Parts: sequence; C-alpha cells; structure tokens
Amino acid sequence: MCGIVAGIAQRNVVPILLEGLKRLEYRGYDSAGLAVVNDKQIFRKRELGKVKGLETLLSQDPIKGHLGIAHTRWATHGKPSTENAHPHISQDNVAVVHNGIIENHEQLRTELKQYGFRFTSETDTEVIVHKIAEFLQNGLSFVQAVKNTVAILNGAYALGVIYSLDPDSLIACRRGSPLVIGVGIGEFFIASDIAALLPVTRRFIFLEEGDLAVLKIDAVVIYDKNDAIVSRPIVESQLKADAVEKGQYRHYMLKEIYEQSWAISETLEGRFLDKQLLDSAFGHNAGLVFDQIKSVQILACGTSYHAGLVARYWFETLGRVPCNIEVASEFRYRNPVITPDTLVVTISQSGETADTLAALLEAKRLGVKHALAICNVPESSLVRASDLVLLTRAGPEIGVASTKAFTSQLVALLMLVVAVGRRFGMSPALEQEVVSELFTVPGNIEKVLKLDASIELLSQRFADKHNALFLGRGTHYPIALEGALKLKEISYIHAEAYPAGELKHGPLALIDAEMPVVTVAPNDYLLEKLKSNIQEVSARGGQLIVFMDEALGESDEENIQIIKMPSVSHIISPIIYTIPLQLLAYHVAVLKGTDVDQPRNLAKSVTVE
Ligand code: G6P
Repeated sequence: MCGIVAGIAQRNVVPILLEGLKRLEYRGYDSAGLAVVNDKQIFRKRELGKVKGLETLLSQDPIKGHLGIAHTRWATHGKPSTENAHPHISQDNVAVVHNGIIENHEQLRTELKQYGFRFTSETDTEVIVHKIAEFLQNGLSFVQAVKNTVAILNGAYALGVIYSLDPDSLIACRRGSPLVIGVGIGEFFIASDIAALLPVTRRFIFLEEGDLAVLKIDAVVIYDKNDAIVSRPIVESQLKADAVEKGQYRHYMLKEIYEQSWAISETLEGRFLDKQLLDSAFGHNAGLVFDQIKSVQILACGTSYHAGLVARYWFETLGRVPCNIEVASEFRYRNPVITPDTLVVTISQSGETADTLAALLEAKRLGVKHALAICNVPESSLVRASDLVLLTRAGPEIGVASTKAFTSQLVALLMLVVAVGRRFGMSPALEQEVVSELFTVPGNIEKVLKLDASIELLSQRFADKHNALFLGRGTHYPIALEGALKLKEISYIHAEAYPAGELKHGPLALIDAEMPVVTVAPNDYLLEKLKSNIQEVSARGGQLIVFMDEALGESDEENIQIIKMPSVSHIISPIIYTIPLQLLAYHVAVLKGTDVDQPRNLAKSVTVE
C-alpha cells in the first residue's frame, strides 16, 4: 500500500528519501515519485514501476534539496501511471504525497474545476493539493491552508506537504492512515513506518489520529485534532537497521520462513513463571477482564483471519469458550449483535489494516467493553486502540505473504486460549499440557525445515498446473486455507481449500490428473475420516500429496505421495503443518519466476478499505 517518506534537513534529502522508499517497497506499490524544494521552486520526478526506475531517472537528471517528499503509490483511484504517481502539485508551488482514500473527492473535484483548477491525474489525492493552493491564494498561511483543507476531507489520509514559498517547513498530518516522525539531529523526517527511517534515526514520535505537525530543521510543533498544541513522547526503537535486510537469503519470504522458530521462542519469552502462563502477559488488568467476559469475538483479515479460524477451534474445543470469528470487512458493515461482555480479539501483523481497525471501532460503538489486540507492531494504531495487547515478537515481516507473523499469531492465540479457558473450566492438567506443547514448537519447526529440499523437489509437480486443491479437517481446515492462500498469492496458481468432509458436495467434480490435491493429515481424531476422503480422491484419478505423521508408517501409493512429518501433538500440529505449505508455495513461485516478496497487485499493509 502507498508509502510516504519525507524530510527537512541541512543536507540533501534525496538519497535518504530514496533509501526510505526502498525500505517501504515491501508494502506493495506500482509507481514512485519524489519532489524537493530548491531555490523556492519545486522539482519533481515520477516513474511507473519500481523505485529502481526512479533512481535511474534521478541519476540521469539529478535534483536535490533540503526539503522533500517521496512516495510509492498502490493504485486505488486511477490506473498505475506516471500521471497518477505522487507527488501531486498545484500552482507549481505546493506538492503533496498521500496515503489513504478521500471519499468526497468527486464533489471537491467538481468545485475546484469550477474555480479554474486544472486536474492532471485521476487520483483522489489531487483535490487535496488544489484545495491547499486555493486557501493559499486566499491569503492563508501555509499551516492554516493545510488545516482548513484537512477539515473538509472525508476519509483516511496520511499526508506530507511542501510549499516552495515556505522552504523551511514540512507539514505532516494523519487520520486513519499511519505516519511517524523520525527525530534526527538538526533534521526531521516522516514515514509510513519506522523501517523507512532506521538508517537515519532510532528516535520516533508516533502521531495520533487527527494530529498535524509542522517540522522545521530545529523544531516540531504538533497540533491535535482540536487544534491545541500538544507534546508527544519520543520513543526509542529497539529495531536494528539490518532487521529489514535479506542477509544470505534469496528472498525475504524464505528468510522469514526460516526465522519462525526464533520468532516463536521470542513470543513465548518472559510470559510464563514456572511454566504458568501469566495473565499480565496480556496487559495490566488482563486478569480482571478475563474474569468478566462471557465469549470471544475474533476480527481479522487475510492470513490473520486464518489464524483466528484455528483459534476458534481451540477456544471451543480446548477452552470451552464460546467464540465467533468474522472477516473484519464484513463485520464492520453488518450491524452485528454483540454483547458488552464479549472480548473482541483483533489479529493483525501490521496493526494498520483499515478494515480491522474499523471493525474494532464498530465493536466498541456497539458497546463492547474489552478489546485485545494480537499484533506484531508495538506502536501500531490497533495496539493503541486496544486496552489489552499480546505482541507477537516476530520482528519486521517484509515479504507480502505472511509467514512468521502467522505462526507467531497462532502461538499467541494458544496462550490466550489458556488464559481465558482456565476461567471456563479448562482443567489444570490440560493447561499444563498446552503450555508444555507450546514450548516444543520451535524445536519441531526446526525439524520440519529439514524437509526443505524434498519440498523443493515436490514443487516441480506444480509448476505447470493452473489449479490446486487443499484439504484439511478440524484445526487443519484453516491450515489448508492458508496453504491455498500462500500458493495463490505468490505463484498465481488458482488454489482453493475445503474441509475434506465437503468434498462430496462439489469439489470432487473438479478432480482429475491435472489438479494436485494437497492434504494436511496429522495424527488426530479425524485421521480415519480423512483417510476415507483421500481414498475418494484417489479412486477418481486425483493426484494427492499428503502431509502425514511419520509414526503412522504410511508409504506412497499410486496417486498418493506421502510427505512424512515429525510426530507432534494435535494441539500444536496446525502450527507445525503450516511450515511445509509455506515452503511449497515459496518453491513453486521461485520455479515460476514470480516476484515472491512483492506479488502483483498485493500490498503488505492494507491501510485503505
Ligand atoms: C494483506 C497482506 C496479508 C495480511 C493481510 C492482513 O492482505 O498481504 O499478508 O494477512 O493484509 O494484514 P494484517 O497486517 O492485518 O495482518
């Protein structure tokens, strides 16, 4: 999704902005651009495609300045093109970069056209820059012109604004889209996330909803949504600049798959005392909240939603806790029935997914008193909007297809099942069993990673296929969904997942030798049922790839290839069986030559609806 980097400094900011844009590439984008103020004029470069293209353009025809804004665009209004790329300029003297969606842009466009403003793009963003220019023409100061403009915008925005006749100020504001200020020595920067600025600073100010900041070389003034001057704390980030580098790996996704045992150990660290899960791991008053709640409602999108689907099985089967789950984009508009004593659990890697945030606000509007976020980004909007939080500690996830964040979410959710479940009658023995199993996850992941070479070989069976089917039952049905999602996201092979019991109700009609059927078959109470489903597919000529517990001693049959998995308990098997499906999708994508880390049309952090 769109990324913003901007800065005001005593040095030329162009190389810093370019480096920042590269660090935001993972968010997904289709064009890039940059504008600087120099000698009271604005200079701009924009390019369709990758930041590398913009960099080449800048090396051929350099621009420089102490004040600049830069952007990667993920098209919403108007196709990917140079004309639609940001920054957008008005009257040759104001330029903006924008992340978000302006919902009343059509009405503003009509009005501005009547006042004689000429539009050069199809974007919703362009109304913002013309509106600021209009206020400036009417004699308002730069700051006041931006304030008056954002006051009439409906929708979501993070903005960086420059004005060539005020070359000492960079204006930044946000509502509904993320934006952070990087505090340097004699310089300030803004960016959509801190990863963009780690090479220049570790000190950050997180803007609140409705904040507007005026950045100068030596000072920053922040106005809150009521136009009062406020002071926001400076937070020191613990992230190292190389936390977002690929290292020895060919792709971020592979690096992140291999980081999973570490990410999970980190997520478990310090949250238990003598193998007893601490309520305080979820926040100061978590114990009191858990004592009061009567049910759980999970809200999430994409891969995080799949983690929630697994958790629903765990909450009800292990914890006997009534649990509902819904994709956030549906929940937010459905006017659902929800009682105040429900614990709303949001799950999000980024903590900035617009639908998940909006669904949380909707739940609060409907009277829900307690919200808990499972999130990978401590400073994110979702964390700040929730009273309880369990941070996954997976480190920055750069590959668009989520891997280590997903398995860390599963671990965090299993911890939550224990914490809530013990209030609903989960026996101390079962609690102890779950906790012991949790600590075996990192070691078991290491074992599965040893299958990498054989899964790479297996991936060749998919390279010329157009469709694939994934099957699972119980907690492994969501794992099948996640396996199918991974494959479609990065290899562009159409993949669907079904609970295996549904085969006879439709998907069996699709079975032929051209449709690989990937089956997740751990050694649990549904195994015998699943074996029957496998035979149903095999009898119809379907080609099965079955991930199965090695202890079962099964071997290949005609049409059935068995991949032997380490023996693990049914409690943690969804986490363990995720790993080979990630590796499979990865190797198929590499064989197909797709852009593994930045698949077409997708964004890492979906900050608009
Ligand atoms: C996008 C990403 C997915 C992610 C989903 C939800 O679609 O490409 O990988 O699962 O957003 O993101 P979140 O940050 O809320 O987990």
